[in-house]
Amino acid sequence: MPAIPANVRGAVITGWGTALPEKVLTNHDLEQMVDTSDEWITERTGIKQRHVGGSTVGLSVQSGRAALEMSGVDPASIDALVLSTTTPDRCVPASSAAVQHELGLRCGAFDVNAACSGFVYALVQAHGMIAMGAKKVLVIGTDTLARITDWTDRNTAILFADGSGAVVLEAVEGPGQLLSWDLDADGSAEKYLYSDIGSTIHMDGKEVFRRAVRIMVDSATKSMNHAGVTADDVALVVPHQANVRIIQSACDKLGIPMERASTVLHRTGNTSSASIPLALADALNNGRIQRGDLVLLVGFGAGMTAASAILRWGGGTDAAVLA
Ligand code: COA
Repeated sequence: MPAIPANVRGAVITGWGTALPEKVLTNHDLEQMVDTSDEWITERTGIKQRHVGGSTVGLSVQSGRAALEMSGVDPASIDALVLSTTTPDRCVPASSAAVQHELGLRCGAFDVNAACSGFVYALVQAHGMIAMGAKKVLVIGTDTLARITDWTDRNTAILFADGSGAVVLEAVEGPGQLLSWDLDADGSAEKYLYSDIGSTIHMDGKEVFRRAVRIMVDSATKSMNHAGVTADDVALVVPHQANVRIIQSACDKLGIPMERASTVLHRTGNTSSASIPLALADALNNGRIQRGDLVLLVGFGAGMTAASAILRWGGGTDAAVLA
């Protein structure tokens, strides 16, 4: 992807929020449903439990409202809503329309579907709208994969779950947070991970694993190169939360120690579009990101897609939110 032109209007994240359904499904619960064990799931994936239930609109409204409250932005002043989801509540209209209404927004709203890479796709799209004049954009990543998971298939039932994460992006004077980005897709690999309309997820786990590591590393490397930074400069990597062994393997190849990765999958499972904003919010809430830190977001998913971005947290030193 070409470098970001100089002097475009930049943006920073000024609020974030998350939502997880109340119902928790532990590995021990899964032992009662399919032929598996807590030990196997923990060792092979890093997942201990996941949240299931709720709708894409309902979870998005919860996380979006929390992000708006934290930023202090008047919902009526939001210029656009971008909702990343691969599990909309209806085929038509987009789930973002109902979310826009329930949050009291008065702006355009649309869904983005790039599977588990979708939140980064949506965030890049939102920065593009800010470069073109928008001042405030709400970006939400939500998935309700429990609805398209075959709970009798141990191959997939151990992985997928529901959740939502949101951020408010505001235009700034001076340099914004986005230093570089990369979006990739390879439609020839769609056969390894898909769900037909009205059906459940089909997955070739081994092939997805193999490709996931490669495309995450490729995308992250492109973003680091575009930003002119190295792995040593990255304070925190916020990866897609699919399998801790994928994260470990990608970090090893990138030369980033696991201590510098944010992981929440042990308690959330794979929440697709929600996984990166959930892991980002967790890191922020635990004080793991400070102003000026370089944060690498990197995801991969069905498509197969990959996406990454380098953020300088808080933007440049003279970044002040535009009124
Ligand atoms: N519980 C217990 N045993 C299981 C099992 C389960 N849920 N699933 C498979 N096994 C068994 C297999 O039958 C096999 O047994 P065998 O050695 O006697 O033949 C053994 O465990 C190893 O199976 P394998 O399929 O090689 O496991 P794996 O290490 O590849 O792990 C995944 C399977 C699905 C966890 C892993 O491939 C993965 O995470 N892939 C990526 C999936 C992904 O990220 N999808 C979302 C992308 S956004």
